[in-house]
Amino acid sequence: MESIVVEARDRPYVEARVRAGILEQGSVDVLREIGVGQRMDREGIVHAGTQLRFDGTNHRIDFEALTGRKVMVYGQQEVVKDLIAQRVADDLPIHFGVSDVQLHDLTSTSPRVTYTDENGARQEIVADYIAGCDGYHGVSRGHIPAGHLTEFERIYPFAWFGILANAKPSSDELIYAHSPRGFALHSLRSDSVVRNYLQVAPGTDPNAMSDDEIWDEYDRRFALQDEPFTINRGEITERVVTPMRSWVVTPMRYERLMLAGDAAHTVPPTGAKGMNLAVADVVVLAEGLTKALQSNDESGLDQYSDIAVRRVWRAEHFSWWMTSMLHRFPPEHPEGDEFGLQMQLSQLRYYTSSEAAMRTLAENYVGLPFGAAL
Ligand code: DHB
Repeated sequence: MESIVVEARDRPYVEARVRAGILEQGSVDVLREIGVGQRMDREGIVHAGTQLRFDGTNHRIDFEALTGRKVMVYGQQEVVKDLIAQRVADDLPIHFGVSDVQLHDLTSTSPRVTYTDENGARQEIVADYIAGCDGYHGVSRGHIPAGHLTEFERIYPFAWFGILANAKPSSDELIYAHSPRGFALHSLRSDSVVRNYLQVAPGTDPNAMSDDEIWDEYDRRFALQDEPFTINRGEITERVVTPMRSWVVTPMRYERLMLAGDAAHTVPPTGAKGMNLAVADVVVLAEGLTKALQSNDESGLDQYSDIAVRRVWRAEHFSWWMTSMLHRFPPEHPEGDEFGLQMQLSQLRYYTSSEAAMRTLAENYVGLPFGAAL
């Protein structure tokens, strides 16, 4: 199956942009199967569980015991690097730095993509199908006629302030913390680089706090009741504030254009589903395209959206639920009252004590197997 990739950014940009960091077991399996898992298996860090911290106490969710599955800590941009390296090694076309991308003739059997290449020359690709894998801000979706798509959206009254720092991880596993001062997450990228997040108000300036103020805030949010806990500090090398949103557009196909990943759906980051959903979309899409191109049978593509969207909604629910349970809502929000807080704490106690409840959290976190009823 021939394919051509066109990318608006340049290669250093996409290889350096820090994004999510957790791969579900199913995503790990896919990367191995397609032959790009070697560096991930060398440098990725397998986690068999995670920590939930609330009321100053720590609770472990044992993914492996509850589900038989684990997750892999491996940055999204590392996956991107590995995919690009493989493509380049295979001598397959990938064009960076393109602009003014337009899609044409989507209702015909030979849709086209036109773009300006990095040397300023106008180019045209005549294709059988187009995969719109260009994210929320991509151009693909805009080529679908108005009225064909239905959108669903939920905006949250908080954002994540993420830092990357040269510090030793303070825990063997990620810590998701619910605290009176708001949510905090301790994550990592290696044994010397941590990735941490603080719940902040939307629109917060990432440079508003000094390094010490940031670390002090982590210490307050991760504080334990019965023992001292301080987070390991180090040089902060990146700061970014990300708004939080749930958003879905359906169907994910219009004639010869298939949308995949963030071009069709975004999740709030809590629970790390974004990259995994994109992988899951592409697994279904690849099967559909293979059938269409090798057996002249479009049934897989006809089912693409229905199959992919079921997993999308499962992940939308899980991410919305984790977000709603772990963040402090502002007082003016309907969930920001004392009742809302008690609902969160009761859920947190239940999901860290009942085995059935813990398994529910765990199987969603590690990702339901491909082919599971969703
Ligand atoms: C990371 C991001 C997440 O959204 C999450 O739930 C866990 C980890 C991360 O960037 O490491």
